[in-house]
Amino acid sequence: MILITGGAGYIGSHTCVELLNAGYEIVVVDNFSNSNPEVINRIKNVTGKDFVFVEADLLDQEKIEGIFHIYQIDAVIHFAGFKAVGESVEIPLTYYHNNITSTLLLCSIMDKFNVKKMVFSSSATVYGDTDLVPIQENSPLSATNPYGNTKLMVEQILKDLSTADDSWSIALLRYFNPIGAHISGLLGENPNGIPNNLLPYISKVASGELEYLNVFGNDYPTKDGTGMRDYIHVVDLSLGHVKALNKILYSKGIEAYNLGTGNGYTVIEVINAYEEASGKKVDYKITPRRPGDIAISYADPKKAKRELGWAAIRSLDDMCRDSWNFVQVNPNGIKKTNIDKKLVVSSVKK
Ligand code: NAD
Ligand code: WQD
Repeated sequence: MILITGGAGYIGSHTCVELLNAGYEIVVVDNFSNSNPEVINRIKNVTGKDFVFVEADLLDQEKIEGIFHIYQIDAVIHFAGFKAVGESVEIPLTYYHNNITSTLLLCSIMDKFNVKKMVFSSSATVYGDTDLVPIQENSPLSATNPYGNTKLMVEQILKDLSTADDSWSIALLRYFNPIGAHISGLLGENPNGIPNNLLPYISKVASGELEYLNVFGNDYPTKDGTGMRDYIHVVDLSLGHVKALNKILYSKGIEAYNLGTGNGYTVIEVINAYEEASGKKVDYKITPRRPGDIAISYADPKKAKRELGWAAIRSLDDMCRDSWNFVQVNPNGIKKTNIDKKLVVSSVKK
């Protein structure tokens, strides 16, 4: 069985779907600190497959150990963590504790139960402010905020673990900018309050919930002066996890992989694509640069293609279409409900 931490979250939920579709048996753990129990019901509805769900905090060592006692875990895909860059600057200790302490505890439990295979959610943020694009995995690493530091530090911890014990098998997946939603419209990004990231913000402008988008700077060295990123469809990203899992189950060592498309789009290009997909106007105003933003970031994804047999295939238009479909299916976001006890089993008690 595969343990999925943070499986009720945006990327985790889509990955659960692709793992179930690929025939894997999964145990999902989440504390709903940034998600909603209804997502668990929806994973079941989308796939028609049963799986185990345990509501638990990764910092609750006893409860997480309980999962390893009950289920024969073969590998862990570790999504759980906090991810808001701005918030990480305001409450760094909370971020370090939730992202690093929980990973240390998880690794110790895995070690104890001789489960030494992990796929870890890293981020292109570990490349810091590089001007060498497309970005390759061997580019210098740095971070400019506490969130980025947690990703860099966890990568280092996992490298040290692998050096000390070469029976570990670890994939560090460095995601570029995940956007889009499941084609069913049942799963997608569901942020609370005013979004920080571009696509959730654009969706709210298109739907009329917010009046206009602030475009952070138009004096970058790009074709229209706005920032350029490598947006990747969340379903392509999820399929990358299935490929990475297939690899680590049958190999040893630690490797980092960029999960991106290799294409960069500017903010203005994304606005245009979203208007096309939704048929709605996305009004915007140019404002000063957002502190900490870099000009251009896009991946060289060749290593993942070569070693994992994975490449993103969905276009920016697909990403905008699926994002807009998600907004229309869930005009008020994903409504909170209780987990349907018939659909999923939670048998780990404290
Ligand atoms: P998300 O917030 O939607 O999902 C994370 C899930 O983990 C949530 O369901 C949350 O409730 C859960 N969680 C957090 N702390 C927990 C804890 N202590 N115990 C149990 N559950 C806990 O985020 P996401 O966008 O799906 O991101 C998943 C991972 O990918 C994160 O580690 C994030 O840092 C990383 N990542 C995300 C992006 C992005 O743009 N979305 C980019 C690069 C990397
Ligand atoms: C994209 C572009 C903005 C909002 C962040 C994290 C990174 C990773 C992914 C987790 C930039 C512009 C945005 C807005 C705008 N997460 N923008 N108006 O900053 O590339 O990456 O999410 O690991 O660590 O830093 O993504 O979506 O915030 O911004 O003009 O209201 O859109 O300046 O050029 P970013 P983003």
